[in-house]
Amino acid sequence: MTNRYAVILAAGQGTRMKSKLYKVLHPVCGKPMVQHVVDQVKKLNIQEMVTVIGHGAEMVKAQLGDESHYALQSEQLGTAHAVMQAQQSLEGKDGVTIVVCGDTPLIKAETMESLFKHHEELSAKATILTASIEDPTGYGRIIRNDNGLVEKIVEHKDATEAEREINEINTGTYCFDNAALFEALKKVSNDNVQGEFYLPDVVEILKNQGEVVTAYQTNDLEETLGVNDRVALSEAERIMRKRINENHMRNGVTIIDPANTYIESDVVIGQDTTILPGTILKGRTVIGADCQIGPNSEIDTCEVGNETVIRQSAAYNSEIGSLVNIGPFAHIRPDSTIHDEVKIGNFVEIKKAVFGKGSKASHLSYIGDAEVGSDVNIGCGSITVNYDGKNKFLTKIEDGVFIGCNSNLVAPVTIGKGAYVAAGSTVTKDVPGNALAIARAQQVNKENYVDKLNLKK
Ligand code: UD1
Ligand code: CA
Repeated sequence: MTNRYAVILAAGQGTRMKSKLYKVLHPVCGKPMVQHVVDQVKKLNIQEMVTVIGHGAEMVKAQLGDESHYALQSEQLGTAHAVMQAQQSLEGKDGVTIVVCGDTPLIKAETMESLFKHHEELSAKATILTASIEDPTGYGRIIRNDNGLVEKIVEHKDATEAEREINEINTGTYCFDNAALFEALKKVSNDNVQGEFYLPDVVEILKNQGEVVTAYQTNDLEETLGVNDRVALSEAERIMRKRINENHMRNGVTIIDPANTYIESDVVIGQDTTILPGTILKGRTVIGADCQIGPNSEIDTCEVGNETVIRQSAAYNSEIGSLVNIGPFAHIRPDSTIHDEVKIGNFVEIKKAVFGKGSKASHLSYIGDAEVGSDVNIGCGSITVNYDGKNKFLTKIEDGVFIGCNSNLVAPVTIGKGAYVAAGSTVTKDVPGNALAIARAQQVNKENYVDKLNLKK
């Protein structure tokens, strides 16, 4: 098999985004555009990948890590100039180089594979991935001769009225014979409207040398979207979202209203789980089988077991077991571990707390910096008083404890195994196992006091 190389163009600022974030780092379904591209390119059996970086170089590098080699383009003089920067890594190597723009996040590995095949079958020196789209505004147009053979690519800004009528566009993805590419790049000039060195000009240069230059047209028009502004970004988001949701549905997940369900790229969901409308699943979230998530829930980077129900709630960076029942209106804050069969009811906030198997906080509680054992019942309105204004302290509630309603557990404090805390208590000292703690003012009843008051009138 021929050697394969890849060059990813990611040095531009992305002026049209009007953003302080570099264009290729803008996320589509939670993942930076350039990462989407690299993830697809990685599937192609590539010997060496070089990402051309410039604007935000360090951030792009931090994102992609060692998945790619890098070439620095310190001045952005155009896409041909960008590819030139990969010369040191790739020049003189035998094989085919695919060039992909970092701002085409919807490009698929299968399409690039077909592009490679087409290129190899025709023994071409250059093959352009093209598409015929309804509104080609802004894209480079494919100019073919009377025999239908590719002559050159004309950028929108340089095109004549007649050329602008052409609907076949350059998607910005190409295969080149590696040696021919670097030879031709030396001949590209910047004599055009934008004063840039255009990569598409390589096509005409090779053509004029009598080399075979072809186009591979894809029917998947959505895939070719180049994101230059936020309108296109939202379009990419919409298409990617649809793709992700359809993928989950094909894998056995029920999504009641896909248009109103937002699942990021890396989320994993088990079979027979149902996702209800208004649900947002983000980051490295993993949801098990037979769960019911939503409506209107946000879950970011949580691991959720099987048969768990999470309704109208938010959960972040936590572990949630199986057969857990959360919500409505619960807030699971980071670093919480909720074991199986736990119930976290309405208006309960959990932060950095462990909840043992079968424990319950059914209503209106704050449990933060706490270790709750198994089969604990936390009564309505009870809270851990974890903060003295300066430091945070731990509350330990051992197995089988019963906390009466509206109790304050002033940390650091331990409630021993099987103990009871009477409703309305403010507990400031440890409670031994099996004890009953009552820490509230004694009730005094003043007999007939109301009558006395009435007399005064
Ligand atoms: C480019 C193509 C156009 C094609 C379109 C497809 C050129 C001249 N035009 O236009 O034919 O239809 O993509 O989406 O190539 N970049 C660099 N260094 C530079 C300039 C750009 O790394 O000096 C990177 C950008 O970060 C971006 C990519 O190359 O990821 C494409 O650049 P962009 O300016 O978006 O090109 P388009 O005008 O969209
Ligand atoms: Ca672009």
